[in-house]
Amino acid sequence: MDKFVIEGGTPLVGEIPTSGSKNAALPALAACLLTEKPVILHRVPRVRDIRTMERLLTFIGARVEKDNGGCTAVTAGVLENPEAPYDLVKTMRASSLVMGPLVARTGRARVSMPGGCAIGARPINLHVQALEKLGARLTQTHGYLEAEAPDGLQGATIRFDRVTVTGTEDVMMAAVLARGETVIENAAREPEVSDLAELLVKMGARIQGAGTSTITIEGVQSLGGAEHTIIPDRIEAGTFLIAGAITGGRVKVTGCIKEHLDALLDKLTAAGAVITHPAEGILEVDGRGTIRSQDVTTTEYPGFATDLQAQYLALMTQADGISFVTETIFENRFMHVPELGRMGANIRIEGRQAIVAGARELTGTTVMASDLRASASLVLAGLVASGETVIDRVYHIDRGYERIEEKLSRVGARIRRVE
Ligand code: EPU
Repeated sequence: MDKFVIEGGTPLVGEIPTSGSKNAALPALAACLLTEKPVILHRVPRVRDIRTMERLLTFIGARVEKDNGGCTAVTAGVLENPEAPYDLVKTMRASSLVMGPLVARTGRARVSMPGGCAIGARPINLHVQALEKLGARLTQTHGYLEAEAPDGLQGATIRFDRVTVTGTEDVMMAAVLARGETVIENAAREPEVSDLAELLVKMGARIQGAGTSTITIEGVQSLGGAEHTIIPDRIEAGTFLIAGAITGGRVKVTGCIKEHLDALLDKLTAAGAVITHPAEGILEVDGRGTIRSQDVTTTEYPGFATDLQAQYLALMTQADGISFVTETIFENRFMHVPELGRMGANIRIEGRQAIVAGARELTGTTVMASDLRASASLVLAGLVASGETVIDRVYHIDRGYERIEEKLSRVGARIRRVE
């Protein structure tokens, strides 16, 4: 298993490009199952979760062709196995995103039930209830969910009990081929949902309101091919901005979308980092001043993203004063805290809140990555810690960050991968 070895203490200076969004590319790949025509996607990040999704599409019967850059072409001609097997679902929960498209296109889907994961129980009951509302019959047997709609799906009004990102995406993909109108209320407003809607519209779907809490979909008989460029990864860009701030450096993040990062930018500014937006697609952070404590509460978009909580928490270990970091989306997303503690951070967990007392000097040691964003937080801590930090199990970070050690090295980080 690969490890990262980081020599901390160097301020990062320079420019880092943003890759395509993992969480936008995953549903986009699943959407390719909705048509027999080729769908061409650009700026698909080459990360492990994407490879898992591509393997899943191939297993189902699609042809997946990739070039050396970020272009992936998917042709989902005949779907012989409308199924997501346990082996793939257990490595990536977003595999459940194929359920909606499969049942819409083939009238059936068999998807392994995902188990819990490091950040919480993560049930998919809301996906199931919504598909049932569209007329699918769902049964659970031998650890699999089987969905059937031999006569096709029927549009309906779906009001989600709570906001779910992949739930909204799954149902949107089912509803585009349903008869009549579907209205999704309390829909997720994340940019990844809007990006998926944009792709589906290019394929011939009729969708209005994506990016708001109410999405209206008028079903069509079939969809065609399309070409689409995935949005930049706001979480990756945010991680690099925090890297600039935590190391007291000056980092320019290119190829990102400022509006997608506003909640983070507000917090970084309030904490004393200087953020500028010199041109479209470019954000610059200057972290040479003092970083002050600044509370944060994660919420759905446009609020502060749970996927940036761990990285922000690492920054708060270096801020003057006490900060309260409250996690409202997942029930167990503080796995990085004990590891940061081993590096010298002073953090207490009380329920869904982490109370961070800074600024504490961090010292390098061996720490364990437990999930994707927790690993990113440990990398950030390693960049500022004195001495050597060894991060074990970096396959977690490879799930969602494209060559992070190369990108960080380019701006002066002393980080290397060892096998
Ligand atoms: N929930 C339910 N039932 C459901 C679905 C969700 O109770 O059927 C709960 C979840 O347990 C959670 C909350 O609702 O407490 C929100 O979960 P959501 O469904 O929005 O999460 P997700 O769609 O499974 C996506 C991202 C996550 C990101 C969350 C929240 C993808 C592939 N994954 O997950 O990304 O944290 O939205 O923004 O889009 C990551 O990239 O590291 C990551 C975990």
